[in-house]
Amino acid sequence: MPQPLLYSAFVMNTASHILHGLWRRDDGQQLDFNALALWVELVKTLERGRFDVIFFADVHGVYGPPDASFRRPIKAGLQIPSNDPAVILSALASHTEHLGLAITSSIVQDHPFSFARKLSTLDHASQGRIAWNIVTNGLANGARNFGHDDLTPHDERYAWAEEYMEVVYKLWEGSWDDGALLADRTRGVHADPDKVHRINHRGPRYRVEGPHLVTPSPQRTPLLFQAGSSPAGMDFAARHAEAVFLMAPAPALAAQAIAAIRARLTAYGRAADAIKFFQGLSFIIGSTEAEVARRDRELDEAIDHEAMISHLGGVMGIDLEVDALDRPIDTLHTEGAQSLLDWVRASVHGRVPTVRDIGLLASRSSRVSGTPEGIADQLAVWQAAGIAGINVINAVIPGSYIEFIEHLMPVLRRRGLAATGYQPGSLRRKLFGHDRLQAPHPAAAWRGAFSTSHPP
Ligand SMILES: Cc1cc2nc3c(=O)[nH]c(=O)nc-3n(C[C@H](O)[C@H](O)[C@H](O)COP(=O)(O)O)c2cc1C
Repeated sequence: MPQPLLYSAFVMNTASHILHGLWRRDDGQQLDFNALALWVELVKTLERGRFDVIFFADVHGVYGPPDASFRRPIKAGLQIPSNDPAVILSALASHTEHLGLAITSSIVQDHPFSFARKLSTLDHASQGRIAWNIVTNGLANGARNFGHDDLTPHDERYAWAEEYMEVVYKLWEGSWDDGALLADRTRGVHADPDKVHRINHRGPRYRVEGPHLVTPSPQRTPLLFQAGSSPAGMDFAARHAEAVFLMAPAPALAAQAIAAIRARLTAYGRAADAIKFFQGLSFIIGSTEAEVARRDRELDEAIDHEAMISHLGGVMGIDLEVDALDRPIDTLHTEGAQSLLDWVRASVHGRVPTVRDIGLLASRSSRVSGTPEGIADQLAVWQAAGIAGINVINAVIPGSYIEFIEHLMPVLRRRGLAATGYQPGSLRRKLFGHDRLQAPHPAAAWRGAFSTSHPP
């Protein structure tokens, strides 16, 4: 029997996340994303269906290069309006017991001191089920919303992220020693002052004195997700990530990305299996091949292809005019997501890849269509390429997940490709067998690092 795969529900607190235009259909409820009840019902459904994680994407600006018109994204609902996922996470925690709760947060949008405090609070509130998808920032508007003139150059963003990680690790791992919290009513000692430390961080971007204001939560550092696949992004993942999200157009390309990151893991002294790789896929499930073909066609017709291209252009920081579909991608320069262009290049053979190929790649390559048995066969191929988890993209919320759970999960379980129950404990324990990051992960080096110095 194979190892069971992990399953993540890839969502965003918005009407139009990845497969654009589907909000126009009447079989989805994602137009109601402002309603907390939509998300509460979804997490309960996901937990009943034995999903491992709900993963919220997030942005802090509108897609497009500097000074782009925002008319197209606003008209299409392309991730605007969107709500802050962190704000609803404690409500979702209170309605679930096992489901991992992952949010995306960029190094630009929150100061590391307040961010560390927020995530520690959520990790307490969820009994250790929080994950953080670390993003730098590819949006010019996102940078300008936080007082920067423009997007920081690509590799410099990763250097910035290194310092951000150092600050939050010092707060999460180093500031409070184990056993610092006494809550001793008899002696009237709430916490042991010798075990709570200033961190006195002074770096190029941040000065943070500490101590951290929150006691160590079950995981201390939340489970760390990341999704960069440029050389700088892979280096960063190899140092910090415990899970990496891929949107590879084919299993062979996923295998290449995985091998490249694993080689770097070894260079940083981490075990080759220290990162679990999740592939983003959407699903068309049918009971016959004819039904599959019909539903495939219906999805193609329902997709807003212009919004798909705007989104991908936005990810790369390029204003992709819909009338420039035949422009060769090698004429595009981007400070945004470079891996996307590499994947388009790799998936087009015998001709020059164009902007149109980016759109096609976006709407079709991440789609798995078939009968439940056929889909299980395809997931087994992804698994053989090194994929440990599937990041399930929705067409409609909650319908895509209900279908996945009702029609696919039973077959996946029978085939050994999905687990039957939850392991107890924190999210990290469920995935890796322990609650806290361990050496040689850089976070672990800060645990106890301030123990003999810096009394508050
Ligand atoms: C599955 C997946 C999910 C992502 N989610 C977000 C997100 O929610 N917000 C965001 O700003 N970037 C998101 N990204 C972008 C990545 O964080 C990263 O910036 C991008 O892959 C480019 O990195 P690179 O230049 O190192 O390749 C996501 C990427 C992938 C593959």
